[in-house]
Amino acid sequence: MSTTTQEHADPLTRRPVLTVRDLTVVYETEQPVTAVSSASLQLHRGEILGLAGESGCGKTTLAYAVNRLHQPPARIAGGSVVFHDRDGGDVDLLALKDEPLRKFRWTQLSMVFQGAMNSLNPVRTVGYQLDDTLRAHDPSMSRARRRERAAEVLTRVGVDPVRLRSYPHELSGGMRQRTMIAMAMLMQPQIMIMDEPTTALDVVVQREILREILRLRDELDFAVLFITHDLPLLLEIADRIAVMYRGEIVELETAQKLHEAAQHPYTRKLLGSFPSLTGERSDFVRAGAHDRDGRQEEWSV
Ligand SMILES: Nc1ncnc2c1ncn2[C@@H]1O[C@H](COP(=O)(O)OP(=O)(O)OP(=O)(O)O)[C@@H](O)[C@H]1O
Ligand SMILES: [Mg+2]
Repeated sequence: MSTTTQEHADPLTRRPVLTVRDLTVVYETEQPVTAVSSASLQLHRGEILGLAGESGCGKTTLAYAVNRLHQPPARIAGGSVVFHDRDGGDVDLLALKDEPLRKFRWTQLSMVFQGAMNSLNPVRTVGYQLDDTLRAHDPSMSRARRRERAAEVLTRVGVDPVRLRSYPHELSGGMRQRTMIAMAMLMQPQIMIMDEPTTALDVVVQREILREILRLRDELDFAVLFITHDLPLLLEIADRIAVMYRGEIVELETAQKLHEAAQHPYTRKLLGSFPSLTGERSDFVRAGAHDRDGRQEEWSV
């Protein structure tokens, strides 16, 4: 139910930019854990696809595997991830060799990592860090152009470019997170994966940043895989929502359909946990995600 889709062609009628099919990721620990189990989803150009689910259900593992950023003991045990470029060509991401994969990242698909706002280098200015990323990915870009581009992306995310001279500790949490989004946008990727991009921020700043993301999507036409455990938030901003439960995508629907008629019991539980401003709180809110004895509630899948 994105608020800006009126000015924006319906993303769902557009060509997909990414297809994930039957992706399975296993942590090969002493007791192997299948963290992502046969997950399939498709991201359309200009779409905001939400990925929701409780902590530990496999959201970050899926994002890392799509980007091939997973490290042992994680192993992709099956499935495919295909990027569809603007010219009609397909790129099999799981088959890409190191060098083309390095090029692919940032220029076509970039990621705002979970907790990223705390990962800026504390002893380098924001300007240096943006410049460094640009230099690494486009060595042919002149110094003057890099400076210009860094100022441009900061302005786009609502940060005054005077901040190029600031160190991370001189920025508020919101500004640091905007800076991370600016960094992910540097090379104008077609897909941005944002893993809990606003979770650590207060509600007002969270809203501002979400509005910026929607505006940027409209202006720059990238697709977003927006990961969060906050389903109500996704209902406001996402075109479609995938719900993940114990490694499986158990539901994938337009935000509207999901809101009106969620099929999976887990989704219905999540929706039932909406705090109502006027009425009684629902049972789920009273009981929390655990029952009164502290046991995790179970839903049959
Ligand atoms: N390095 C690891 N080794 C073994 N198991 C792991 C490892 N990293 C994650 N897992 C397991 O994989 C599952 C999925 O974890 P993941 O971090 O993808 O969940 P998530 O949905 O992103 O959770 P959160 O909302 O808390 O960020 C969890 O059961 C977790 O314990
Ligand atoms: Mg996570």
